[in-house]
Amino acid sequence: MQTILVINSKGGCGKSTISANLASYYATNGVKTAMLDYDPQGSTMHWLSARPAHLPRIHGIHACKPRSGLTRVWQMTVPPGTGCVIIDAPAGITGLAFQEMINRADAIVIPVTPSSIDIHATSAFVRDLLLIGRVRRSGIRVGVIANRVRRDAPQYEPLKRFLASLGIPFVTSLADSDSYITAAESGTGIHELDKEETAFEREQWAPLLKWLSAPDPGEMSEEARPRLNLVSITR
Ligand SMILES: Nc1ncnc2c1ncn2[C@@H]1O[C@H](COP(=O)(O)OP(=O)(O)OP(=O)(O)O)[C@@H](O)[C@H]1O
Ligand SMILES: [Mg+2]
Repeated sequence: MQTILVINSKGGCGKSTISANLASYYATNGVKTAMLDYDPQGSTMHWLSARPAHLPRIHGIHACKPRSGLTRVWQMTVPPGTGCVIIDAPAGITGLAFQEMINRADAIVIPVTPSSIDIHATSAFVRDLLLIGRVRRSGIRVGVIANRVRRDAPQYEPLKRFLASLGIPFVTSLADSDSYITAAESGTGIHELDKEETAFEREQWAPLLKWLSAPDPGEMSEEARPRLNLVSITR
């Protein structure tokens, strides 16, 4: 089972959108998929409630909402046979819940929008993330993706340099596209919309999906693992 955590301390960078599209991709490719929605707003649960019944089912767990009669651990248990778990993190997550998510994750996907405030905050978030023991020790897969990109986005260059210094890949750039809005409204993902109309978006998703399916980072060379460099964050 692979667990993918979509997280950034910044709000509105596309965590729920990317979580939903990941879940829809795996489900539609025959992988039994579950989602853990840690967001008190329940965006993922809302998306799941709009999902058409004829599409492959995705099991949703509202991780913030205690269900009576269940212990927390039992509540967070995914159905047997689940091949992929997507965790949609809320903005500004810290403390125990943050640690709990990191402990479950095999891969961490960090979306960032092309705003200098978001880019700066993301650099600080990545640095904090790498200070967490498990991420550093196990070489857990960590990657950043640009989201809602309108044109070539030169403002990402300092972030790219910072990530390169840490050995963290800048995996892909996703365009600002109405297809994501259409998919969100219909409980689907871009991989479940018309193939021709979403050809451009699918092309941009390919590097992310390839990166997620690459061999376990535990088997990667030392150079390929995230490094903890005491470099100052990007200005
Ligand atoms: N690539 C995209 N193209 C167009 N719209 C997008 C894209 N990504 C996200 N959006 C839109 O941006 C808004 C914020 O996205 P989303 O809710 O996924 O962010 P979030 O990081 O989960 O926010 P929060 O921190 O509040 O949980 C939503 O209205 C979503 O539809
Ligand atoms: Mg969200």
